[in-house]
Amino acid sequence: MIGIVDSGLGGLKTCFTLREKHPETSFIVLADQKNAPYGDKTRDEIYEIAYRNIKWFKERGIHEVIVACNTVCSTVLDELQKEFPDMKLYNIISATLEELKKKRYKGIVVLATAATTRSMKYENGLKGIFPGRKVYPVAPKELVPLIESGASSKEIEDLLKGYLADYQGKADAVLLGCTHYPLVSKEIKKALPVKQYDPNDAIEKTVSFHQDENPSLEVYTTGNPRLTSWQIFKLFHEDVEVKGI
Ligand code: DGL
Repeated sequence: MIGIVDSGLGGLKTCFTLREKHPETSFIVLADQKNAPYGDKTRDEIYEIAYRNIKWFKERGIHEVIVACNTVCSTVLDELQKEFPDMKLYNIISATLEELKKKRYKGIVVLATAATTRSMKYENGLKGIFPGRKVYPVAPKELVPLIESGASSKEIEDLLKGYLADYQGKADAVLLGCTHYPLVSKEIKKALPVKQYDPNDAIEKTVSFHQDENPSLEVYTTGNPRLTSWQIFKLFHEDVEVKGI
């Protein structure tokens, strides 16, 4: 069984994307919706939350966890990996930077949370990969709360138009640097009609997927299980019984 953790719907998006390609693998997802959004928190707050979540998997005997959260990966994952040396914590940012080496983008908008943007992990990594090319960091801080609360497509598109207007004609790609953003890729495309890179594609290439005889899916939330179950049905059209922790 492979663990997946995030502050909420982003990790679920990662899970359903991976499950489509690897239906033979069992997954256990922890959606830490009580603490969402992570992106506005300090490094210490993020560490404390992420530590607790990884420990939760360890206590359940899960030793491989996809940290489907750019915010955690960009700030505290190296330290966490040292705290849990017997666990494999998959880092979505390292996987993405590796894959982006194959791309020939001329100018790339890195759309991410405030904490990920502040860490400069993507910015520095991309400048190393694409010397002489433009990297434009953009942190739309209202976006994750809007996605979590089920805001309308129009509301999201209007917000994004404000953030992305300056990059028309400058950027030829957008990096979806937060796992929540593939859920609004259409709205992002309307605001800035260029190619997009989804880090879930990179994660898919890095993980060693298991062949389970009876593959299962378990979903836990620190929020309201009935609400999460409804969100899963609305977004991914699957009936999943969500448990609270
Ligand atoms: N989905 C997460 C990320 O990839 C966290 C978003 C948030 O809670 O702010 O960064």
